[in-house]
Amino acid sequence: MIKKVNVKTIQKYKDNKEKFSVLTAYDYSTAKYLDEAGIDIILIGDSLAMVALGYETTLSIGMNEMSIFTGAVARGVQRAMVVTDMPFLSYHTDISSAVKNCGEMIKLGANAVKIEGFSEYILDVIKRLVETGIPVMGHLGFTPQFLNTLGGYKIQGKTQEAADEILRQAQQLEKAGVFSIVLEMVPDKSAKYITENLRVPTISCGAGRYCDAQVLVSDDVFGKFSDFKPKFARKYGDMKSLICDCAKQFNEDVKSGKFPSEDEIF
Ligand code: KIV
Repeated sequence: MIKKVNVKTIQKYKDNKEKFSVLTAYDYSTAKYLDEAGIDIILIGDSLAMVALGYETTLSIGMNEMSIFTGAVARGVQRAMVVTDMPFLSYHTDISSAVKNCGEMIKLGANAVKIEGFSEYILDVIKRLVETGIPVMGHLGFTPQFLNTLGGYKIQGKTQEAADEILRQAQQLEKAGVFSIVLEMVPDKSAKYITENLRVPTISCGAGRYCDAQVLVSDDVFGKFSDFKPKFARKYGDMKSLICDCAKQFNEDVKSGKFPSEDEIF
């Protein structure tokens, strides 16, 4: 029997100083392959708005779309923990709709949800979700759903004062019950300081080497998404070229009559 990664496994990783891996997935077969590759957490990031659906920011995606992709990913995974990003406005209006929307994702097969930002209200949402049996991953530093109030894609926590503020927020999230916290676009040194002062693991998204885990958008890792590449992303393959080469070859074969062959017909 395959042992599923859960909140206890994740905490054990931090306690044993073992790094763990997180990648995004948006569809069934990608999720299946990431799971087979041993990725510990598979995140249905709302980055899917930009990467898979072609929206300009993550703000445009809603519950309906996130639900479809959450179900698809969850059906492909056996071992990894499946975490889904709660879309903009799905947890902001009031606590009971936040619990209902997050609960919907759990019913679809997610094992936890991720919510962005910090406020007294967010702390109450986290407490209620955890009381309901829904594990929560926090997200601090650069939080894309706050793009308009942050004034663009800006590095957060650059000064000691700013790092102290992120740490203060992270400690409050920890107290409210999150099982891990994504730190996005935070300098290496600040993320180290924050990580060393938290009991729960931190997950770096462009937050350097000292976090307990690393997350990347899988389309960046595969070299599939080519509109832009964040400085912190590493491209391990060239899926764009592979797709283009296969499509060109197919196009040529159809037009030259090489496809289908004798073996490919009834
Ligand atoms: O939306 C996303 O993919 C994310 C991460 C990469 C942290 O939030």
